[in-house]
Amino acid sequence: MAVLPLVIAPDKRLNIASKDVEVVDDAIRQLLDDMLETMYANDGIGLAAVQVGVHKRCIVVDIARRDGSYHPMKFVNAKIVKKDPEPSVYTEGCLSFPDQFSEVTRPKGVTVRYLDEHGAPQEITADGLLATCLQHEIDHTDGIVFVDHISLLKRDMIIRKLKKAKKMGLLHELPEAKAVL
Ligand code: NI
Repeated sequence: MAVLPLVIAPDKRLNIASKDVEVVDDAIRQLLDDMLETMYANDGIGLAAVQVGVHKRCIVVDIARRDGSYHPMKFVNAKIVKKDPEPSVYTEGCLSFPDQFSEVTRPKGVTVRYLDEHGAPQEITADGLLATCLQHEIDHTDGIVFVDHISLLKRDMIIRKLKKAKKMGLLHELPEAKAVL
């Protein structure tokens, strides 16, 4: 396993929709493992492949990390098939937006269809933090980031802060030339 460099906003790679994985093979399983290690190394609870410069529909999640335990989850070609119409508000952050947080309103629960790491079709119905996290990560695979859900004013403020941090060399990011499409 390896810790991979992250794509940090503002970066147009984050706005590109990822492609479906055709075969869940060893290379995909390696990618998922590397993504998990990258997520843990950065204290995240979710990561999409686009955030390490790979435009494939792969997601890893571990919301148990907040309690200090491990419960890694891997999702390939995840797609929301049902939404609970009731809204839920959560203060979201993102490994591609270091130290930036904002309240985001999303459906309270979702049902997601996906392939597991062996390529078998699965379905999960989630609510609470897991539902929020899955929607945030599936958004990533569609080229959507959490600040796309907030006011333009707040979004501009966050982008300005990140531009400044990049300029000052405070962020360690994946160089554009290293992007794997
Ligand atoms: Ni994110």
